[in-house]
Amino acid sequence: MKFVRFLMKNSSLANVPRHIDHFSKFSPSPLSIKQFLDFGSTNACEKTSFMFLRQELPVRLSNIMKEINLLPDRLLSTPSVQLVQSCFTDALITIRNRHNDVVPTMAQGVIEYKESFGEDHMTSQNVQYFLDRFYMSRISIRMLINQHTLIFDGRTNPAHPKHIGGIDPNCKVVDVIRDAYESAKLLCDQYYMDSPALETDEHNAVNGSKQPVYIVYVPSHLYHMLFELFKNAMRATVESHESSPRLPSIKVRVALGGEDVTIKMSDKGGGVPLSKIDRLFSYMYTTAPTPNLGSSGGAPLAGFGYGLPISRLYAKYFQGDLQLYSMEGYGTDAVIYLKALSKDSVERLPVYNKSAWRHYQHIQEADDWCVPSSDPKNMAVDKVQQ
Ligand SMILES: Nc1ncnc2c1ncn2[C@@H]1O[C@H](COP(=O)(O)OP(=O)(O)OP(=O)(O)O)[C@@H](O)[C@H]1O
Ligand SMILES: [Mg+2]
Repeated sequence: MKFVRFLMKNSSLANVPRHIDHFSKFSPSPLSIKQFLDFGSTNACEKTSFMFLRQELPVRLSNIMKEINLLPDRLLSTPSVQLVQSCFTDALITIRNRHNDVVPTMAQGVIEYKESFGEDHMTSQNVQYFLDRFYMSRISIRMLINQHTLIFDGRTNPAHPKHIGGIDPNCKVVDVIRDAYESAKLLCDQYYMDSPALETDEHNAVNGSKQPVYIVYVPSHLYHMLFELFKNAMRATVESHESSPRLPSIKVRVALGGEDVTIKMSDKGGGVPLSKIDRLFSYMYTTAPTPNLGSSGGAPLAGFGYGLPISRLYAKYFQGDLQLYSMEGYGTDAVIYLKALSKDSVERLPVYNKSAWRHYQHIQEADDWCVPSSDPKNMAVDKVQQ
């Protein structure tokens, strides 16, 4: 992984051949059978082995990857040699696919914990902090693997020949909105036999107000966020209008400014009280019934309660954000902020250091804001007891 990370650092894909050049200048370090035996039998140290492999594998791989290109062209282009050349890519695809189910499996772990030990504030805080960073790291690693595998599999994506890996240099925002809406609508119709309509509206303050908004972005990330927001907006709309003859539509407004692309989705689904908004982003909280892992009932409209927190991570990954503004009794606005300029869309990655470590150490201190007393008569007593 380190090697891939190194190769892909700062998404400088053009530099990959240079890194291969660099590593191929090192000579592989041959090991004797004795060394293999000695290392493997007495005090085998995983860390030492890892440190060795981290340097040695890229060196060996780069050396032979340079050399494979020296084969005669016609041998190189045979399907079998192409197959061998794509092995590195395949290894990455295997790693990526093996980790496909990490989110539901981790979620299951949190549910099991909650069932056995309940929810306490300190654990919730730690789980929240950890999972935000864990899933962010996962998003970034998969981004690197996807870029590598899509770019180096030797084929251009026939459906999207202009995409650079998973990035669309001309991503038409409203098209992604429509795609995500259609998929959510399909689920909603299946589940509730009805669904709200979509209205869209664009404001382009940069290229002239009538021009559609384009962005350099990973369309699958944007689709993921919008799909999750549509599912939530549809569920709230349908469930709060059970006795109404018509469902109010969902309105999505896109605005492009000098710094931000902002996408606001507004529903009239009854809203959420302010006191509950923070909880909606919690990995330990959902109002939907717990889904069964591995059940064959198809994709649920509401599952682990991870729709919002994971979508917010996707938004934050390239320095954006996702926020909810609700009017209880009326409806909710969900706002996605993205950077308008690709030079500002820089990966946001967790780093393990002392500050991170400190987040897990809770010092029990009294709150520095008064706790409102429900019974004014007890106020004096409360103060004395604190
Ligand atoms: N637009 C909305 N209007 C009203 N309530 C909402 C809205 N969006 C989210 N919520 C509330 O926030 C909760 C959390 O939403 P989230 O998308 O994170 O999880 P979920 O929908 O319960 O499950 P999942 O999205 O994982 O399938 C929802 O269960 C719902 O109660
Ligand atoms: Mg949801």
